[in-house]
Amino acid sequence: MSISFIWETDGRSAETEELLGRVADACLALEGIENAGFCVTVTDHERIRALNHRMRGIDQVTDVLSFPTVRFRPGTTAGDDPDRIRREYDPALGCCNLGDCVIDLERAREQAAAYGHSLRRELGYLTAHSAFHLMGYDHMDPAEARIMRGREKEVMRRLGLWRDAEGEHMSVGIDHDDLFKKACLALENAYAPYSHFRVGACILTEDGRTYSGCNFENASLGATICAERCAASCAIADGQRRFAAIAIAGESQPAWPCGICRQVLREFSPLTMPVIVGAVGGSYRVLTLGELLPESFGPEDLLEGGEA
Ligand code: THU
Repeated sequence: MSISFIWETDGRSAETEELLGRVADACLALEGIENAGFCVTVTDHERIRALNHRMRGIDQVTDVLSFPTVRFRPGTTAGDDPDRIRREYDPALGCCNLGDCVIDLERAREQAAAYGHSLRRELGYLTAHSAFHLMGYDHMDPAEARIMRGREKEVMRRLGLWRDAEGEHMSVGIDHDDLFKKACLALENAYAPYSHFRVGACILTEDGRTYSGCNFENASLGATICAERCAASCAIADGQRRFAAIAIAGESQPAWPCGICRQVLREFSPLTMPVIVGAVGGSYRVLTLGELLPESFGPEDLLEGGEA
């Protein structure tokens, strides 16, 4: 097995270690490298927050942190330079140490519950995500994010942890705080002279872009457009078809999406998509679209294969 473990929290299980070992092996195999490994530390909110603060200056809980020990040339990944892996061979470990992956088990549990999938799958995905970081992948710009995401998906598919029919959503890469802040900012442009109920929304699309919107009312009240559909229109007009998350902010109270907006989101989003809802200056809740729209009707009911 290509990984070792440090458990800083309860919940250690041989089954989890076996699964994550298989995930790591599959990541290395997909990259085409041998004799490499990394260490997985399983920890809790408090410790990952302290680590995030110390190492990155971000005093926040997060799901996974990756600390590579091998720096690959810019624009290349481990598979581009197998010689480098050979050179970095550590006889004490019996392989090249790619670095450390630190996972917050509490956050993984929360995310698995929010997205309606198993803890196994969430832990598997976080490990794969980190493994690709340790091998030189990143998701700073949309093009590289697409490549990294494709690798992660492929590994998950190979291990039977991902079925396309389940939807496309995976939790990593969705910064709830950031998306919610963007929704609050979008609210500033709301045009709501009749209801005075100002709403902002921000949609994250699968390729990592964000599209903001606000409600804009009309003297003929029925012609009003909600913030969510305003954001969705911007995304669609820009050629987007797959949403990964949406945040919605109300001015003085949470703005839960209306029925029409839930149905509009259903067209372009997996049922596991997180919907982040709150009020400006307050906290937010995260539910999935499936929770907000159970037993729903969607494109797959009309289109063969469910694809637009
Ligand atoms: N509104 C939204 O923008 N999103 C929703 O899903 C709920 C309602 C807006 C529309 C209208 O301008 C105001 O809130 C009152 O209905």
